[in-house]
Amino acid sequence: MSSKQLEAFLNENLEDLKTRGLYNVIDPLESPNGPMITIEGKELINLSSNNYLGLATDSRLKKVATEALEKYGAGAGAVRTINGTLKVHIELEEKIAEFKQTEAAIAYQSGFMCNMAAISAVMDKNDAILSDELNHASIIDGCRLSRAKIIRYNHSDMEDLRAKAKEAKESGQYNKLMIITDGVFSMDGDVALLPEIVEIAEEFDIMTYVDDAHGSGVLGKGAGTVKHFGLQDKVDFQIGTLSKAIGVVGGYVAGKKNLIDWLKVRSRPFLFSTSLTPADVAASKRAIEILQESTELHDKLWENGDYLKKGLKSLGFNIGNSETPITPCIIGDEALTQQFSKRLYEEGVYAKSIVFPTVPRGTGRVRNMPTAAHSKEMLDHAIAIYEKVGKEMGII
Ligand SMILES: Cc1ncc(COP(=O)(O)O)c(C=O)c1O
Repeated sequence: MSSKQLEAFLNENLEDLKTRGLYNVIDPLESPNGPMITIEGKELINLSSNNYLGLATDSRLKKVATEALEKYGAGAGAVRTINGTLKVHIELEEKIAEFKQTEAAIAYQSGFMCNMAAISAVMDKNDAILSDELNHASIIDGCRLSRAKIIRYNHSDMEDLRAKAKEAKESGQYNKLMIITDGVFSMDGDVALLPEIVEIAEEFDIMTYVDDAHGSGVLGKGAGTVKHFGLQDKVDFQIGTLSKAIGVVGGYVAGKKNLIDWLKVRSRPFLFSTSLTPADVAASKRAIEILQESTELHDKLWENGDYLKKGLKSLGFNIGNSETPITPCIIGDEALTQQFSKRLYEEGVYAKSIVFPTVPRGTGRVRNMPTAAHSKEMLDHAIAIYEKVGKEMGII
């Protein structure tokens, strides 16, 4: 029998979320997560994944994953520090470092885990972190875990960042300071102002930490936002995920060798959680090789992104200020956003509503993510459905 307190808490809060249009229903997919997906027997144009380059279903990744599974087994067996590390993990880390042009890299079980690991391994309660107000939830949680003072600056507002950095430095209150930002902001598609951030960091001797979950594979000809700006030598922590453009699962931190050495002995998710499976590792490494071999997928992603953006914008949708293929359709009201997404679904487009707490209240949106795997026909069909539903609901 569950506790009455828990029952009361859950009933009250679930009901509240449902009434306010903030309750998210999770759909079971009956197909691979490609450009078209099947849910309850219905085929839909999938504009909701982060599978930017279509690599999640790529036959080259499946081949090496199967081989690694056969050779090394289904699981890694233990935490790497306890039972040794599989050679494939080391090969992946070397590949990531080469790709990111850093001295070294360390792989974690997810991008989320990287932020749990890296921030608290370096920052503590005597330190302060300057954090963009729109940073991802995992950054916020990673900062909290470190117990450092969190100083939020207005989104991409360099005057605000500079003033707060100066104040923090001159206060003499903190041992260490760090600036953390997303490379690409996932719900809006805008790019962090890294050259300005690095300049401020250098002026006040502050560490820099860029979580490039949505920039890797997308910017810098695939190598990410830091490469895009040519700042490989100036950013201390480059965080990335293997779950989005790379198409698999996992995350990494790339940086100087001594930073990576420190994370290997002091970051708790590395020390106390079993590492990625051999199949994940082999597939991720192959994905990076594919990005190094050619920009074909990267170029297709941008072509598709530009095409969808142009189509939706010309219909009169508010697509915000995205500078990347991420294409939000900002509706505002949460309930209306959910209703809009539901109608798109009924007509054949899978584009999920994103509402508070993922984005600020009153900025509900349908987030569209065209990938390299979409055809022009799929995108044309999706745009036609957007037009029909948008007009029907008085949104355009
Ligand atoms: C900026 C950022 N960091 C980390 C993550 C988490 O990555 P993963 O899905 O690999 O845990 C995300 C995922 O959306 C993200 O957007």
